[in-house]
Amino acid sequence: MTTQYVFMDGEFVPEENAKISVKTHAFLYGTSIFEGIRGYWNEDHKQIYVFRMREHFERMHNSAKIMHMKPPYSVKEMCDFTVELVKKNAPQSDTYIRPTMYKGECTIGPKLLGKDSFLVFTAPLGNYVDITKGLSICVSNWRRLDDNAIPPRAKVGGAYANTALIITDALKAGFDEALTLSHDGHITEGSAMNFYLVQNGKLITTKITDNILVGITRDTVKQMAEQEFGLEVIEREIDRTELYISDEAFFCGTGAQVSPITSIDHRPVGNGQIGPITQKIQDLYFEIVRGKVEKYKHWCTPIYDN
Ligand SMILES: Cc1ncc(COP(=O)(O)O)c(C=O)c1O
Repeated sequence: MTTQYVFMDGEFVPEENAKISVKTHAFLYGTSIFEGIRGYWNEDHKQIYVFRMREHFERMHNSAKIMHMKPPYSVKEMCDFTVELVKKNAPQSDTYIRPTMYKGECTIGPKLLGKDSFLVFTAPLGNYVDITKGLSICVSNWRRLDDNAIPPRAKVGGAYANTALIITDALKAGFDEALTLSHDGHITEGSAMNFYLVQNGKLITTKITDNILVGITRDTVKQMAEQEFGLEVIEREIDRTELYISDEAFFCGTGAQVSPITSIDHRPVGNGQIGPITQKIQDLYFEIVRGKVEKYKHWCTPIYDN
């Protein structure tokens, strides 16, 4: 493999030299914000398409506002550096892109002061969860973070201790994933992914004021469902027991992509098979992200000048 670079504080640095101090504020207190972006390899086009990159960096700028951070670059500059980085690392397979903005000063004490650093690295990434078999999930007994604690609307590094507890205990209990409840007992989202139900041909997803990260894939699914399949999409509170009587369910996210769920808390979802609406949303999603659908090509940033 050719040298892999990290974009760090304005330079492209070989990965082995991209290091931070053990005293870094973000390491001590979890004071980083990040994005997870995918680049999809299209074998026919010999091209990597980075999916909805601008929206990811716009969300990062919003996370920064919440966390008293001053982004060192504009959204456009972040996109440009990312394209240059991926080009330098020259992947020819699906790739994960991880930008992080973090409190980079070496100071003791959690106050959100001091300089904001920015880095981006890339790594090969296949499927984050099995998207073919239908997931068996549970409702976690860990509650989701609250907007007035560590706001899920911001993608904050430290908040992923909550995610880590949720997914680890679900896996140890023999499930593939977990859904979390808010403090008032409504469904929020999966450990690192948003959630959709299908009831009577309509899509239902958690409303954005119910302690979720407002996902870019959630929006992609909504637009596809409405525009391509003429389906109604309803954003509202979801009760736990609705999980047990719905026709279909799936997760969505940059990592999760579109992941069908076939069992929740040991109860089959619908007839226990991957549902037809979920399947057609998943199929079209993969066409779109690989740059195969003209109408949505504006979401796909090509990397190589073929
Ligand atoms: C907690 C959480 N919710 C939802 C999502 C989905 O967001 P997106 O579709 O923007 O990747 C993610 C990230 O993938 C996440 O970490």
